[in-house]
Amino acid sequence: MFSLITRNTFWKEMGVNIARTSNLTQIPAWKYLEGHYLKIKDIDLRRMFAEDPDRAEHFTIEDVGVIFDYSKNRVTRETMGALLDLAGSRGLPHRIESMFSGEKINTTENRAVLHVALRAPAGESIIVDGRNVVPEVREVLERMRRFSSGVRDGQWKGFTGKPIRNVVNIGIGGSDLGPRMAYNALRHYSRRDMTFRFISNVDGTDFVENTRDLQPDETLFIISSKTFTTLETMTNAYSARRWLLNKMEDEKAVARHFVAVSTNAEKVAKFGISPENMFGLWDWVGGRYSMDSAIGLSTMIAIGPENFEAMLSGFHSIDEHFRSAPMERNIPVLMGLLTVWYNNFFEAETVAILPYDQYLEHFPAYLQQLTMESNGKHVTLDGMRVDYQTGPIFWGEAGTNGQHSFYQLMHQGTKLIPADFIGFFKPLNPLGRHHDLLMANLFAQTEALAFGRTADEVKNEGTPDWLVPHRVCDGNRPTNTILLEQLTPEALGKLVALYEHSVFTQGVIWNIDSFDQWGVELGKVLANRIIPELESADEPRLAHDSSTNALIRLYRKMNNRSSG
Ligand code: F6P
Repeated sequence: MFSLITRNTFWKEMGVNIARTSNLTQIPAWKYLEGHYLKIKDIDLRRMFAEDPDRAEHFTIEDVGVIFDYSKNRVTRETMGALLDLAGSRGLPHRIESMFSGEKINTTENRAVLHVALRAPAGESIIVDGRNVVPEVREVLERMRRFSSGVRDGQWKGFTGKPIRNVVNIGIGGSDLGPRMAYNALRHYSRRDMTFRFISNVDGTDFVENTRDLQPDETLFIISSKTFTTLETMTNAYSARRWLLNKMEDEKAVARHFVAVSTNAEKVAKFGISPENMFGLWDWVGGRYSMDSAIGLSTMIAIGPENFEAMLSGFHSIDEHFRSAPMERNIPVLMGLLTVWYNNFFEAETVAILPYDQYLEHFPAYLQQLTMESNGKHVTLDGMRVDYQTGPIFWGEAGTNGQHSFYQLMHQGTKLIPADFIGFFKPLNPLGRHHDLLMANLFAQTEALAFGRTADEVKNEGTPDWLVPHRVCDGNRPTNTILLEQLTPEALGKLVALYEHSVFTQGVIWNIDSFDQWGVELGKVLANRIIPELESADEPRLAHDSSTNALIRLYRKMNNRSSG
């Protein structure tokens, strides 16, 4: 194997544009990986571990408080070299710099992508359109700090003079999944005498069930919506307004019980929220990258400003690592490249996210938006349809629950499912042997998936011949193990940033825009067309397909709206 530099020089001499060639599958680095895959696809992890006593050490990185063991992957040193060559040939280091320096890399929306600015320390400078955005970020953080301290210490009073005991975040997508996940992940650090709720679904049940036991005069609603136009959020926000005014009977109460996180000052004011109770964000923060912006206001109220700041410093330490660590020791880069390896060469369709920590039960759902809204794309940055797979399906469940559910398929099914196992050395709730048992299961699962159990081993345990094939586990199923000391706010920031930058790395390899989401528009447009057709008193003239027409007619009939 020759080095990255030598190979890139070689391609340059061959006249290959190593910066960014649209046709990914034609570039030498890709071709090399195709050939290499054919050579190693059947190599067994058992054999690779047996032949290389240093394997675990070689394929483990410990940096910024994160241990990333990727030794139980179907890769050799040559594989990793070739994947890194691919990253180099796609210009990854240059693209990272473009993001950090505020270039408009979200080309379809002509926007910079600067979630890294949300956690940049005061004093740093990141210029967008000639303006340093860091002071603006710090100013909003300071306002959040003042406001959340006021709510926490009872200075901020409701309309009747009572302190706030309940905080309800109303939002959806990135304006819900991040705060919901972060609150649950950091519940250990949260105010236990306050109640935190998250309402997202336009299904009225979500609103009704989450407010039925709350007193309006002790409740604060945070309307989180970057655009302040999202159907679900605005419907829930207006229901919240009615719910409050039913009891308060005075419009002035809205100002004491509603605050907003948004970029849309006009719509916020129209709702009745005064400008001083609006917390801003910027068009360069994507919804799914916004949990550490003002969208995290509920998180800050729950865990306090100091803990929130600690979370930001966790994010920032991974940003620094991503920007400066050499590619071969760069954890998010390696995570991203391994995802590409299984997605594009082994044709794996999914990735399992398996956090062994109950507090992280919402982490897989959070990552689904982060990864799939980012990399579920079918054209390249220059608008060409891709002829290769892009973003895989992410899913998962907190350990050990999944072990008694879907792990059977991971161990013996016919599909290859690469998985990330996430764990912490120290528990937040030490309770007898619980943590040892939890972690023993994590380690055991990665071992079982990698090495399985051979027919000979099964036979030697006295299994009758007819049962042997049923008990054999082939192994050779790839996993990453990601370990941190303890689930602190800082650790959560690190974990999320690792995945943000892994997603970026994948997007660079696939040459797609990881920061737009045009695909979600069509459903919204069609729903807006159907809403009046369901609600109108007069029989609507339907012009959909025959299935959709029939479903709408049936719905109207069942709700006694049909005149026919
Ligand atoms: O689902 C599409 C989407 O635009 C997400 O990207 C975003 O996180 C969510 O809707 C909510 O948008 P908003 O914060 O503007 O209400």
